[in-house]
Amino acid sequence: MDKFLFLLSAFLLVWGLRLQSDPASASKGNKLASVGMITAIFSAVIMPLENSFSNLIWILAPLSLSGVIGYLIAKNIKMTSMPQMVSIFNGLGGLSAVLLSFAEINKWIIYPETYQLTVVIVLILSLFIGSVAFTGSLLAFAKLDGYRWSEKLSLPFQHIFNLILISVIVGLSYLFITSPDISLLYIIIILSFVYGIFFVAPIGGADMPVVISLLNSFTGITAALTGIIFGNIVMLLGGILVGAAGTILTVLMCNAMNRSLLNVIIGGFSSNNSSKKGKDQGEIKEVSDSDFAVQLFYSSKVIIIPGYGLAVAQAQKLCKEIQEILETNDVEIKYAIHPVAGRMPGHMNVLLAEADVDYSKLIELEQANEEFKSTDVAVIIGANDVVNPDAIDDSTSPLYGMPILKVWESTSTVVLKRSMSAGYAGVQNPLFFKKNNQMYFGDAKESLQRLSSELKNL
Ligand code: TAP
Repeated sequence: MDKFLFLLSAFLLVWGLRLQSDPASASKGNKLASVGMITAIFSAVIMPLENSFSNLIWILAPLSLSGVIGYLIAKNIKMTSMPQMVSIFNGLGGLSAVLLSFAEINKWIIYPETYQLTVVIVLILSLFIGSVAFTGSLLAFAKLDGYRWSEKLSLPFQHIFNLILISVIVGLSYLFITSPDISLLYIIIILSFVYGIFFVAPIGGADMPVVISLLNSFTGITAALTGIIFGNIVMLLGGILVGAAGTILTVLMCNAMNRSLLNVIIGGFSSNNSSKKGKDQGEIKEVSDSDFAVQLFYSSKVIIIPGYGLAVAQAQKLCKEIQEILETNDVEIKYAIHPVAGRMPGHMNVLLAEADVDYSKLIELEQANEEFKSTDVAVIIGANDVVNPDAIDDSTSPLYGMPILKVWESTSTVVLKRSMSAGYAGVQNPLFFKKNNQMYFGDAKESLQRLSSELKNL
């Protein structure tokens, strides 16, 4: 029976993950994977206890309590705070790996003859990676949530210090294996926790999604290692899936930003880049409410480019409302989604899904770049770096080489943002000064509200 349940949960987890690769089936995939996880927990934790009711209570009580807490957090979390939630949950996964390994290492200290050397090495590795995932994720959470102290933890020569720290941990682990002493194990755990903090400390706040995804793959690896130790196939498989998905996502995000993982880890976009930061790049033109509304209403085709600012302003529903008004006048509307628009993978897809925007209207970067030439107006809402022409034109720009949306190939562009301040990369955007561009200043929600009222009056 348990083998059948293992197989079933493995199938549900893999199939769920497969469905999550498409926005249209993602929600179904999520539910399927949840059923897979419940089946896995049932077959791995509850079933083996069979008749031992007292044990069952100890397992079911915290499981149900944590299940309810997890459900409430996930239900009430704001969409812009989703990366924070993922990082906390991921950190707790790392902590469980630490506790499991710690318990098992303690058993090894008491009954050394029952363990092979390789198992002990795997346990220490799992303890180390789990500790890094735990404290690293907590710091990632603090950075994402804007705690100022979290940006001040980095030391001078941090990377050299980190190398020394990791060498000390390896040395102590060797000592511990050769002459097991519990106090040495405590030191290894504390140093691993410290390493987790120093690993994340030098990385910029806005790079946290990449870091979280990396730490997520670490947690997957610890789960897989723990699965090997406990001979639990479904834990091994779940760990491999999380580890592989986290690694692939990390690589995809880095590629989409045209940055290496090392560049992200070493500390993000350099602050001493050229990039015309404060230089005057010419005149900008502002568009009035009525002109903007008329331009859109009498267009044949409009492409909307959502970015981080749209998520901050929570203006997605207004965006959909404007889409519907324009469609009544036969304007074709599409949404161009840049792979790293916003602050987490799929951020814009989820945002637009919240407003019930039809998936068929979402187009990816390559297709959008083919379609801009035949577009009347490209409307950029709270996006900046993902439409910066310097990524193509200026080899000294930190964005140089990042694939971007060539919005300026449309007949005209309108940018909605609050001011002339830079985006995440901290550089000015020459698009704002182009002849066919107009600025529509204000908080995206207020701006779209004004625009919507104007459109309704036409
Ligand atoms: P950004 O380049 O960060 O630009 C966002 C713009 O939104 C800002 O210029 C800001 O200008 C505007 N804004 C902020 N709040 C607003 C509001 N309430 N109303 C209207 N506008 C508002 O965003 P993007 O174009 O989406 O690019 C994403 C960046 O994040 C890229 O550089 C990417 O590499 C990086 N990144 C993304 C990810 C993932 S996975 N998505 C991960 C790591 C890093 P004002 O202040 O003038 O309003």
